[in-house]
Amino acid sequence: MVIMERPHIGVFTSGGDSPGMNAAIRAVVRAAHYHGLRVSGIEGGYDGMIQGRIRELGVRDVSGIIQRGGTVLRSARSKGFLTNEGRAQAKASLDRAGITALVAIGGNGTFAGAIAFDKEHGVATIGLPGTIDNDLYGTDRTIGFDTAVNTAMQAIDRIRDTASSHDRHFFVEVMGRDTGFIALTSAVASGAEYVMVPERMQTIDDLTDALREEAASKSSSIVVVAEGDEAGGAFAIARAVKERMPDRDIRVTVLGHLLRGGAPTVADRILASRLGVAAVEALLAGERGKMAGEINGEMVLTPFQMAIDKRKDLSGELLRVLSILAI
Ligand code: F6P
Repeated sequence: MVIMERPHIGVFTSGGDSPGMNAAIRAVVRAAHYHGLRVSGIEGGYDGMIQGRIRELGVRDVSGIIQRGGTVLRSARSKGFLTNEGRAQAKASLDRAGITALVAIGGNGTFAGAIAFDKEHGVATIGLPGTIDNDLYGTDRTIGFDTAVNTAMQAIDRIRDTASSHDRHFFVEVMGRDTGFIALTSAVASGAEYVMVPERMQTIDDLTDALREEAASKSSSIVVVAEGDEAGGAFAIARAVKERMPDRDIRVTVLGHLLRGGAPTVADRILASRLGVAAVEALLAGERGKMAGEINGEMVLTPFQMAIDKRKDLSGELLRVLSILAI
């Protein structure tokens, strides 16, 4: 295997933040120093790279951040980096700082940017899956997903209390972009009655049939709605159900960005720590253009294009478990 010339690593977070990004930054910085490498933090994602917001990080600069949500390096969805000029400016910033390789912590958009950057400017990049959505192929879990579903579960538990006190039917919307991983996982964990996810074709009539069946034995219920469901968000779905079931006392809660914050769980801290070390060692081994992920407990590298393009399946078994247990 090619051993890369001692790289000076630039680490950055990009796209929507996720709990555990700080643990990943810490792991990259510490692993780089362990291997005798220089490492710098790039602030504000690709925008900050363009602007040259770069500072070298020592081992103590990442003390006390493993437990913090958000990202100390800040993040952005950069429009500038989508242009040739933006990427050329970013390359000039890296050259000025002496950075020769990158660890990019983010999701689909982050990795698409890294592909273009390497093609045009030859910058070796290893990615870490940092998104609450869990929508990347090549890893069983993304950094932040576990924290997000725990937060969703706790919120739904609280909604359950008031729903049952008032005999109400709640529609709870969770993030996930165009996938239903957060919705399905938090629905099973909170004992929800039904889930609406983009991966499964379900009509409003399917939903109302299911709710009518349950009505015989239940006076309250919770339907978890993935924000990307083709039937619409929780408000639209709740309106359509109310038209068909006017007697129902219906309420809607949108959890939104609540799921993006908070201290990362044990699972996210461990995942981020392992992947951070794996990313640095992958660069040292001459790897580039790949995302480090965890599959069945093992660290694996997946080419960026595959991580973006291939669709990870929602667990059919978990969907079945939900419907069996919601009787
Ligand atoms: O990708 C993470 C995510 O939180 C998605 O679940 C959501 O659709 C999107 O980002 C929201 O983006 P923003 O923070 O830019 O509103």
